[in-house]
Amino acid sequence: MADKKTGILLLSHGSRLDDGEDVIKAYKEMYLEEFPDAIVEYGFMEIRKPGIPETIKKLTSENDLDKIIVVPVFVAHGLHTKRDIPQLLGIESDFEEDDHGHHHHHHHGHHHHHHHDHDDEEVEFDGEIILTDPLGIDKRMYEIIKDRVSDYL
Ligand code: NI
Repeated sequence: MADKKTGILLLSHGSRLDDGEDVIKAYKEMYLEEFPDAIVEYGFMEIRKPGIPETIKKLTSENDLDKIIVVPVFVAHGLHTKRDIPQLLGIESDFEEDDHGHHHHHHHGHHHHHHHDHDDEEVEFDGEIILTDPLGIDKRMYEIIKDRVSDYL
């Protein structure tokens, strides 16, 4: 049995402007520079193409994968990471909205099979899809914030 591989999807929000694509594309290239054998693509949650289903299709049609790791390159969790992205990936999300409009969310596991239909394409993948946390609270991000401020002090 041939070794199956892991694909990586770097996910950006999506914008009509090119800036977001420039950034996510640069991260993909940086990743490939460090790990030349990696199978990595970037895609967008909304507004811009390629979207999530297309990107998964690209990864899986060109490679024999048994796992895809999706990294939302977002600062924090929000409705997209908790609800929309799991939905688009066709994976379980523990996101619920109660009748007071409060959101309950827990880290969801990962498995596919449960198709949504609000997009023309569906994610068809028999392997495991893992959605990681966003970038979050990290000293490395804090360093960037400090740099931005200090540029103008
Ligand atoms: Ni949005």
